Amino acid sequence: MKITVVGTGYVGLVTGACLAEMGNHVVCLDLDARKIEILNNGGIPIHEPGLLEVVQRNAKGGRLEFTTDVDAAVAHGTVQFIAVGTPPDEDGSADLKYVLAAARAIGERMTDYKVIVDKSTVPVGTADKVHAAVAEALAARGETMEFSVVSNPEFLKEGAAVEDFMRPDRIIVGAEDERAILLMRSIYAPFVRNRDRLLVMDLRSAEFTKYAANAMLATRISFMNELSRLAERVGADIEWVRQGIGSDPRIGTHFLYPGAGYGGSCFPKDVKALVRSGAEVGLNLGVLEAVEAANERQKQVLVEKVVARFGADLSGRRFAMWGLAFKPGTDDMREAPSRVIVADLIARGAEVVAYDPVAMEEAQRVMPGQAGLRYAASAPETLPGADALLIVTEWKEFRSPDFDAIRAQLKQPLVFDGRNLFEPIDMAQLGIEYHAIGRPAPKRA
Ligand SMILES: NC(=O)c1ccc[n+]([C@@H]2O[C@H](COP(=O)([O-])OP(=O)(O)OC[C@H]3O[C@@H](n4cnc5c(N)ncnc54)[C@H](O)[C@@H]3O)[C@@H](O)[C@H]2O)c1
Repeated sequence: MKITVVGTGYVGLVTGACLAEMGNHVVCLDLDARKIEILNNGGIPIHEPGLLEVVQRNAKGGRLEFTTDVDAAVAHGTVQFIAVGTPPDEDGSADLKYVLAAARAIGERMTDYKVIVDKSTVPVGTADKVHAAVAEALAARGETMEFSVVSNPEFLKEGAAVEDFMRPDRIIVGAEDERAILLMRSIYAPFVRNRDRLLVMDLRSAEFTKYAANAMLATRISFMNELSRLAERVGADIEWVRQGIGSDPRIGTHFLYPGAGYGGSCFPKDVKALVRSGAEVGLNLGVLEAVEAANERQKQVLVEKVVARFGADLSGRRFAMWGLAFKPGTDDMREAPSRVIVADLIARGAEVVAYDPVAMEEAQRVMPGQAGLRYAASAPETLPGADALLIVTEWKEFRSPDFDAIRAQLKQPLVFDGRNLFEPIDMAQLGIEYHAIGRPAPKRA
């Protein structure tokens, strides 16, 4: 099938590459000439495990092309996926300007039937707006032409995006006409061969499902983060509590990890957008407001612990920091807690020496010229002369570090762990002062 993907970011590039992998002929469009140039030169503009191989294989096979040429991209695909960004507007609602511009661009150029698929995360009712934008563009040309609008929200996780796309838990298709449903079924058939995981529903429910899923996951994290604060006050260990509740199948083990707050391009903006959708129809979504407020608080938790240990004035202090990306497996720095932590430490007079396996270039881009922040070429190289180590992202390479080096090279053996990578009792035995999230110091070492 001939498919166009509009927007070649995390979602668009993975979608395009995986659809090409199944034999489709895919054209990926982006207005960002830098991204398209990188792709046309055989690279990829983001860090995503396994993606480069899929992109290179399919580009070489002639099934995957990259362009900035809107005319050619619209002419190519019967199915046009829209995977552009939907950043938060000033009031927290999803800003649809990129989605609607993409829709208009299709309406201004199409010459035959198209299925226009919203893959971006968009609020309920967006499919109607996309429909109107295309219809208006056609009317302006004095044309009437058949087209369908489908909602097909994406559930991939950065860091495991290719795997998630190739083996989806479910595929949500919101559509209200048979022709579009059949086309969507045939596009996704190769991905659901062992068991049909495609759920067809009405457009609004499909749009809603994506926000509901992200809001639920964010709620679990904020819930655990809030309980971790209580655990610290009352002398309980949140890690035992996590295991104790996660073993109940009604609760399950996923997304119950307390930490330094959630970040990324999805949870923060999607929770805000859902709260805003509620407000627009006069509903106060109090649970989700609290989820967001708890997360903002949680981004401060590591610095609060540092301040409790060293005092509010951190002038002359240096901190080693492991991890910058909002989660492991990605170089995405959008809304990363590390940004709040770095800014706060530096505002208090400290210096930060940071290391991240893949996100340092992106960190330099989003925190340009940040005085007081230096980068090291490896995790151990952040340590010499630092007052303490802060762990912010749970990369695998931080899980079994050289504790002797930590002890020997820091000014004092002191670790603030925002991801609960270690056991307090082990750290006590190693002679390392250890501050984790929701975990009391051990009663016996
Ligand atoms: N990143 C994720 O993990 C993830 C997961 C599921 C859903 N989503 C949703 O998918 C959407 C895209 O997210 P992303 O992380 O891939 O964004 P991104 O910022 O990485 O990529 C968006 C791309 O669209 C391009 N673009 C904007 N307007 C365009 C236009 N008119 N024509 C062509 N290209 C255009 C931009 O240049 C950019 O490269 C968002 O709505 C997001 O919420 C993201």
